Amino acid sequence: MDAKCKTGLPVLGGVQPPRVRRVRWPTLVAGVAFLALLHLLVSPSVHPIYRSPALPLASSALLCPQEKSLAPEKNSELWNDLTALHATNDFLMRAVGQLSRAIQLPTETFDEMDRVGEDERWLTRAPFVDHLATAFPLVHASLELQKVNTYGLMYIWQGSDASLKPLLLMSHYDVVPVSSSSADKWTHPAYSGYFDGENIWGRGAWDDKAGIISKLLTIEVLLEKKFVPTRTVVLSFGFDEEAGGAQGAGHLAPALLERFGPDSFAMIMDEGGGSWEQFGGLFAFPSVAERGSANVKIEVQTPGGHSSVPPEHTSIGMLAALIVHFENNAPGASIEVDTPTFEGLQCLAAHAPDMPGLLKRAIQSARTNPVALKAVEAILLKDPIFRAIVGTTQAVDVISGGVKSNALPEQALAVVNHRIAIKSSVNATLTRDAELTRDLAARFNLSVTAFGELLTPVGAPSFGSLALTTIDTLEPAPISPSDAPPYRLLAGTIRATFHATRKDEEKEIFVAPSMMAGNTDTRFYWDLSQHIFRYDYSNVLGEGIGEVHTVDEHLRATSLVEMITFFTTLVLNADEAAL
Ligand SMILES: *[C@@H]1O[C@H](CO)[C@@H](O)[C@H](O)[C@H]1NC(C)=O
Ligand SMILES: *[C@@H]1O[C@H](CO)[C@@H](O)[C@H](O)[C@H]1NC(C)=O
Ligand SMILES: [Zn+2]
Repeated sequence: MDAKCKTGLPVLGGVQPPRVRRVRWPTLVAGVAFLALLHLLVSPSVHPIYRSPALPLASSALLCPQEKSLAPEKNSELWNDLTALHATNDFLMRAVGQLSRAIQLPTETFDEMDRVGEDERWLTRAPFVDHLATAFPLVHASLELQKVNTYGLMYIWQGSDASLKPLLLMSHYDVVPVSSSSADKWTHPAYSGYFDGENIWGRGAWDDKAGIISKLLTIEVLLEKKFVPTRTVVLSFGFDEEAGGAQGAGHLAPALLERFGPDSFAMIMDEGGGSWEQFGGLFAFPSVAERGSANVKIEVQTPGGHSSVPPEHTSIGMLAALIVHFENNAPGASIEVDTPTFEGLQCLAAHAPDMPGLLKRAIQSARTNPVALKAVEAILLKDPIFRAIVGTTQAVDVISGGVKSNALPEQALAVVNHRIAIKSSVNATLTRDAELTRDLAARFNLSVTAFGELLTPVGAPSFGSLALTTIDTLEPAPISPSDAPPYRLLAGTIRATFHATRKDEEKEIFVAPSMMAGNTDTRFYWDLSQHIFRYDYSNVLGEGIGEVHTVDEHLRATSLVEMITFFTTLVLNADEAAL
């Protein structure tokens, strides 16, 4: 995942003018940054709120209702059997072996890969796909496998009741490359899949081969136990999520749409989310939304000539002024009440025992009280990471121009990367860019074309031209409702899994909706269900995982088994629920 990247956004690998590199879409778990902020707040030196006495609070569980732990009923015996099986060392070693072997087959995705069939770097997928067929024999004997665009994998486990909308489980089996400069920095070689008795090491250990392996092993074991599903289960595995997913998910989603139709899935699960302790409470954060994005190219063209007789401003100077103008007019951020971020805050206020009273009270009243909302903003928007996550952002990530030290640059270009707030839109973001640009272009006597529309008078003489164009855009994802049966099923499943796997844990776990800062392959799946969740029960209480997208990626073996218990519980619960 791109989605799971918690270490930050991979940077573009250098400027390559005039061709602009397609931006690789890193994804962040929004929760990570959001929670990092809340950690900051815990320090009394950070904000005076921590010096105020705790105030009495109204009972607030209604702000964030919690589902009861949901264990399968019809299949309770099977579920008990399976959770007992998962607790054995034999099973743990079986899961470890599966993940380890999957890591040993590298499936690296690079930026700028040509289509399947035209770029031989895709060929690494073939041995991985062949390996799955032998590693999960019952899955391959019992499920229908449709290969989409050669390496996209769609498995269909037909349920006995065709009137029930299927459950769709997604993952991706590609990984980000191991750079040659860092290969020798790994504690255990990146493609060793080494198991040290506690952790499985290697690229993909978490992101996202654990997702593939946990889902396939869940189904393999259910087949071993002769489970026959009532509700159809579909698996959909992409192979280039780390480069945006166009070749994998971009083909799988239309294939699913053709086969099953629009809005045909009861719910969709993909990588993402996690759980952490916050203000003394344990919280799981399934992601119910993703921000949008837009990459905007700004190009200034002016007459060339010898630089011994230069004009006052060259194209590079004008572009520089424009960039400064953008940065001086950054989009604002606000907390909006009908967003997953606000709902998540409400859950913390309702269930975290140690949240300072003032913040808690402000959050509790903010939905209906604008003054309280302003107070919450005053505290939380101080944090630049939180601010970035709730607002639309801009970052000039690419710049180029000029070819020679004694020649006036005829062209200069920059690329602005926007992440678009969940309540905003691509249009609002582009409109804002166009307005900022128009302000400045008059000063430099440039004609302006913004997204195909000429903003300056037709035929007016100008010194040069300025053009804004999009490289790619993505609307913010629709928000999956957190008051509907699929979310409730997910929440109850998370709690049941927690209770089954952490019997010694005294604290209760609470489930709170959250938002991705980045994107997963689900960006292609919106038409298939209104209930899309990015959550895979990895990273429970921040324990399971090591580094991601960098050296020393690893996953705790017990976390892998917990993921399997989670997907087992989810499949069985979905099988008997009305969704
Ligand atoms: C935004 O939407 C308005 C109204 O539909 C349209 O006129 C305008 O061209 C759009 N702007 C962009 C940049 O797409
Ligand atoms: C803009 O530049 C053009 C071409 O150099 C020139 O003819 C025109 O008078 C300029 N307009 C202004 C407002 O400076
Ligand atoms: Zn991933």
